[in-house]
Amino acid sequence: MSAVESVKAILQRGAAGGDVAVRGWLRSARHSKGLTFLDLTDGSCFSGIQVVVDGDLPNYANEVASLATGAAVSVVGELVDSPAKGQAFEIHAREVEVVGSADPDYPLQKKRHSFEYLRTIAHLRLRTNTFGAILRVRNAASMAVREFFDARGFIELHPPVITTQDCEGAGEQFRVSTLDPAAAMGKPVDYSGDFFGKAAYLTVSGQLEAEIAALALSNVYTFAPTFRAEDSNTSRHLAEFWMIEPEMAFCALEGDMDLAEAFLKHVFASVMNACPDDMEFFNQRIDKTVLESLQHVIDSPFERISYSEAVEILERADLDFEFPVKWGLNLQSEHERYLTEKHIGRPVIVTDYPTDIKPFYMYVNDDPRTVRAMDVLVPRIGEIVGGSQREDRLDVLKQRIGACGLREEDYWWYLDLRRYGSVPHSGFGVGFERVVQFMTGMANIRDVIPFPRVPGYAEF
Ligand code: 4AD
Ligand code: MG
Repeated sequence: MSAVESVKAILQRGAAGGDVAVRGWLRSARHSKGLTFLDLTDGSCFSGIQVVVDGDLPNYANEVASLATGAAVSVVGELVDSPAKGQAFEIHAREVEVVGSADPDYPLQKKRHSFEYLRTIAHLRLRTNTFGAILRVRNAASMAVREFFDARGFIELHPPVITTQDCEGAGEQFRVSTLDPAAAMGKPVDYSGDFFGKAAYLTVSGQLEAEIAALALSNVYTFAPTFRAEDSNTSRHLAEFWMIEPEMAFCALEGDMDLAEAFLKHVFASVMNACPDDMEFFNQRIDKTVLESLQHVIDSPFERISYSEAVEILERADLDFEFPVKWGLNLQSEHERYLTEKHIGRPVIVTDYPTDIKPFYMYVNDDPRTVRAMDVLVPRIGEIVGGSQREDRLDVLKQRIGACGLREEDYWWYLDLRRYGSVPHSGFGVGFERVVQFMTGMANIRDVIPFPRVPGYAEF
């Protein structure tokens, strides 16, 4: 048999003629009077390809005539211009090999299924239009991330997944232990007998390790899974998500904001360029404003305002927020969305948050009630990037560690970095799934990751 081509390569040929070989899965099979029409996809691109099978094929009656949606087939045939609307070519089959038939109860019949239902069949949902498109967009976005940093000389750091720190200090960590929980029931746990000799967790952020690397290699980034045991059943939170965390030595907050803005614009533009058909689908079927808003973000300079200014704007807003607005309180998603969607109408970077609501590692301003933090807010999502300049002064850092109720001895190495060649440095974290959610217009973050992990759910 000739070498197998992908549907994408076949559709890109530009002209019919000649033999092609393709294999994949059936989105549908229509049988009518000694003729069968197969809609075949191999996931290589958004479109499938129509295969027309004539009744005189030797295995027609025995195999082809009973092919059903979901079956895997391998086809060889001639590529011809399609008389039907909606497709340039079709394949007139000379050989159809049934590689794997599908039982008639295949759950993905040709109709619209709700995203909630598709989550319950995550082993099959990747065969749908939407999730094929999601995976190709994720792939293009992931390539764009690496391209962006590589072009700027950043070195990728692989941070540990298991850690003994709580970088964000929010206590939202999953414990990693080999102790028998039943044996410890009701008793204080002695972690000195545990696998690592102390309490260990899945990482919530690779930042502290990225700082170590930046103070040796100057510009680094991580792109790795992170874990949060926060009980947030929202459309923007996952318990396991991928985070990209660049860290730059000799860089203050302004450079950090410039990088975040350039980063988002690069990823959006690259994906629009790499996946035009998938993006067109999201624009038509998921959110009619997606392409327009991405282009708007690419073309607009991001607004930059301080947290104090943001609070003033929110206090003046003639809108009843569910959560209170007051200097010193965290901005909630409704506040973030008001700022970027209603007040400013494009992405906004909020800086200089109150010291008391931010982790120990952020650079304390002279005031000193604020720190050099920055969050990038975008329409529909709210916070997509969170970053800061890091505290590089040993004495101030020690004070902050104490004020946050942490122990200096747990951070001896982090303090050491402020003793031996400390430099101003900054970085940020961007949630990969929030980026994909923004780009595709998907309403729920659970539908932009192949196997979502959320409170009460970790199937597949
Ligand atoms: O704002 P966060 O918590 O910042 C940090 O972890 C810093 N250590 C980053 C740094 O400065 N290197 O998280 C960063 C980003 C958020 O802006 C959001 O996009 C995403 O990570 N994120 C989540 N995405 C999905 N589900 C969750 N539960 C998320 N929590 C944060
Ligand atoms: Mg944050």
